[in-house]
Amino acid sequence: MSALREKAAWRTLEEHRQQLENQHLRDLFAADPGRAERYRADAAGWRLDYARHRVNDQTLEHLFALARECGVEARRDAMFAGEKVNTTEQRAALHIALRAPARKVIKVDGANVVPQVHAVLKRMGEFALAIREGRWLGFSGRPIRNIVNVGIGGSDLGPVMAYEALRHFSDRKLQMRFVSNVDYTDFAEAVHDLRPDETLFIIASKTFTTLETMTNAHSARDWLLAAADGDKAAVAKHFVALSTNEKAVEEFGISTDHMYGFWDWVGGRYSMDSAIGLSTMIAIGPEAFRDMLAGFHAMDEHFRTAPLERNLPVIMGLLGVWYNDFFGAETVAVLPYEQYLKRFPAYLQQLTMESNGKHVTLDGATVDVATGPIYWGEPGTNGQHSFYQLIHQGTRLIPCDFIGFGQSLNPSGRHHDLLLANMIAQAEALAFGKTLQQVEDEGISQELAPHRVFEGNRPSSLLLTERLTPTALGSLVALYEHIVFTQAAIWNINPFDQWGVELGKQLALRVVDEIESPRKPLNHDSATNATIAWYRKARSK
Ligand code: F6P
Repeated sequence: MSALREKAAWRTLEEHRQQLENQHLRDLFAADPGRAERYRADAAGWRLDYARHRVNDQTLEHLFALARECGVEARRDAMFAGEKVNTTEQRAALHIALRAPARKVIKVDGANVVPQVHAVLKRMGEFALAIREGRWLGFSGRPIRNIVNVGIGGSDLGPVMAYEALRHFSDRKLQMRFVSNVDYTDFAEAVHDLRPDETLFIIASKTFTTLETMTNAHSARDWLLAAADGDKAAVAKHFVALSTNEKAVEEFGISTDHMYGFWDWVGGRYSMDSAIGLSTMIAIGPEAFRDMLAGFHAMDEHFRTAPLERNLPVIMGLLGVWYNDFFGAETVAVLPYEQYLKRFPAYLQQLTMESNGKHVTLDGATVDVATGPIYWGEPGTNGQHSFYQLIHQGTRLIPCDFIGFGQSLNPSGRHHDLLLANMIAQAEALAFGKTLQQVEDEGISQELAPHRVFEGNRPSSLLLTERLTPTALGSLVALYEHIVFTQAAIWNINPFDQWGVELGKQLALRVVDEIESPRKPLNHDSATNATIAWYRKARSK
């Protein structure tokens, strides 16, 4: 048995789970009228309502005891202190330094990294303003009006999500596009209506070696050069790079004057507030970008200093562990009732699943508890007319995170009241359901009655704040970053590496070589050989 399962608090939680087995949320609410007041926490402008969870005061006590026994606080302090908490890569994980105020001192290997962060932010700000004010000209002398971010994973999902989330605050004169997939269709559709002489490509890649991004970057350069009569000088006006790899950027043909750097202590999925956020900064302006950073920082400070019992990321992280490991819940649904957050679930998928999709502990021992759950979701109310049926009446337990705002950024008539009424009603329906008695009292026939019963007892969190501003978005993203960290600390896994993406990458290089050299003998398993043989034929028809 693993050290985790032998911990006193873990064992207590296992027993406690049995005791709670037959208690419905209806019972928990009936027995505890002060529940809604008590099971609430506030941080950085966000309010978390967690009364609709299958917990009571003892559960929470045991969960906080587990956090203490697993050393969550010490691990958090080590991360904030710049220690090499990413042990398999011997790196610090200091995304919190990306949003630290200039006066802070955060050291990696003895050197304060905060001044470097602010120096890059300053250069980014100058560049963003030059674009926004029409001072940055393309090869024909026309101002840049189209920005195409070329990147994948953390170099795409954060920028896309933030652009969509903060679109209300963006400069509508600028066209923002995002290309990530190695499928050329992605590139072709992104540029099909753009003038090359008005288009800036931001090549976003921490390593500057990622196959998809480099392939798309070369296609972008060809597309531009075709319009600029092959004049290579045009590249300088139409390409900038966001990377940690100066050498590879220069080899591609982008001068370091047009490169915005970051550092190996910024993980790809934790990088939307580094130079990788250049497209966000161009869209919303440097001032609003700084507001977003302030939002991140406010949540960081809360996570760093608030007692566990009032600590939002800790509470949500522990509730996640509770369902994942003690109820066998395999997924979490993220349900923003805000159209601008439509890409937020996709963003969270990389943040949570690339971080905590791990099968060994920090010491390399196989884990014997479930680690990172599957995150998924869609904005409300669309999801209600699609998959909510399964959440309400299916056989699986799916904890839900509802995200809602007091005010719409586009207020009109009853729209926002209806939107929020739906969110509140869904949380109520999931928790309390509808009993057979209630169904029968409505005069429903005996035959139909079982189909109309809602078991309820389905848990959810409500995350609420006033408006979706840059500051609110920053705090929301930081909240989930720290939830992921809290859970990794409990499971004793490394949330900052991603070795699991490597094997497929290596095999793809071998396969592409075999596809493009059709006479090469195939030495894979019989299924892989057959599929390669099929494609060799299909591509040459
Ligand atoms: O998918 C693996 C990964 O390394 C992610 O962690 C990262 O965000 C993405 O590829 C892109 O990497 P890069 O920014 O180096 O191009």
